[in-house]
Amino acid sequence: MAILPIITAPDPRLAKKAKPVAKVDASVRKLMDDMLETMYDAPGIGLAAPQVGALLRVIVVDCAKDGDKPEPYRIANPEILWTSDESVTYNEGCLSLPEHYADVVRPAEVKLRYLDEQNEIRELHAKGLLATCIQHEIDHLEGTLFVDHISALKRSMILRKLTKLKRQQVPTPA
Ligand code: NI
Repeated sequence: MAILPIITAPDPRLAKKAKPVAKVDASVRKLMDDMLETMYDAPGIGLAAPQVGALLRVIVVDCAKDGDKPEPYRIANPEILWTSDESVTYNEGCLSLPEHYADVVRPAEVKLRYLDEQNEIRELHAKGLLATCIQHEIDHLEGTLFVDHISALKRSMILRKLTKLKRQQVPTPA
């Protein structure tokens, strides 16, 4: 397994639509495992393939509480089958928007169909933080970030700060 560099906003690669995987084979499984290792290292509770530069419909999540047994999900080609009418607000963050958070409203529950790491079709009824996290990661596959759900004013403020931070981090030529 390997820890992959995470792309941070603003970056055009985070705005692209990801392509479905034809099959979950050894290379997709390796990507899933590397993404999980990258996510745990960050640390985070979810990661989408476009955030590590792979434009594929692959996400990983683990919303287990600190100290509890890990509950990793390796998900390819997720399809939302149903969302609840009831919605919920979470203060979301994102590994591609480090140290910025905002309240985002989403459906409280979702039903999902996807391919697991064995290329088997599975269905999942997610609630609570897991439902929010899965929707946030699926958004990444459409090129959507959590800041696209908030006011334009707050979004531009966050992106301006991240742009400034990036300029400061430009490495000097050796
Ligand atoms: Ni994110």
